Amino acid sequence: RTQKLDLVFQHIRHFPDFPVKGIVFKDICPILKEPKALTAVIDLFEEHVRKNHPHTELIVGLDARGFLFGPLLAQRLGIGFILVRKKGKLPGPTLSVAYTLEYATAEVEIQADAVQAGQNVLVIDDLLATGGTLHAACELLKKQKAQVLGCLVVVELKDLGGAEKLPVPVFSLLQF
Ligand code: PRP
Ligand code: HPA
Repeated sequence: RTQKLDLVFQHIRHFPDFPVKGIVFKDICPILKEPKALTAVIDLFEEHVRKNHPHTELIVGLDARGFLFGPLLAQRLGIGFILVRKKGKLPGPTLSVAYTLEYATAEVEIQADAVQAGQNVLVIDDLLATGGTLHAACELLKKQKAQVLGCLVVVELKDLGGAEKLPVPVFSLLQF
């Protein structure tokens, strides 16, 4: 591991049996509390995007923890940020997709005019578990005919096989 990755690793906490029994919850809050760790996250994402997806036009963040990293990365790259939100939060015409996640079910929405057909986008979230959430976001973007280049997450829970379910490559900083 590099020094930056190590710093990120050291700022993730593990809580057994949250929010339900059997789940070991990865808590990314300490990253946000330590500016050096947060900078390391954005540095590592920026490096990956500049190298592998230099033609990215928009960062798409997932409700709620994708919002913590997405806008910082978009600013760093000098591109825009758009939101995929849980049902009922976005005004105006929206598109929606229902999905199942590790410990609940939900529906995500995007504003109908958020992205134009053919635009190159990357989707960001804090964590990949079953992949249900990122998959639903990719579906939403496909409905809008956006070009989804890939997904970015801080943490990937490998055993759940989420990456295999997604239609695009996933870049994760840390795997558990
Ligand atoms: C968590 C996490 C991801 C998703 C991962 O969010 O932040 O968005 O679950 O799970 P999956 O890969 O199985 O879909 P959650 O839905 O708990 O909502 P929150 O961000 O509003 O807390
Ligand atoms: N941590 C944070 N969010 C999550 C997790 C987790 O372990 N599993 C599903 N969403």
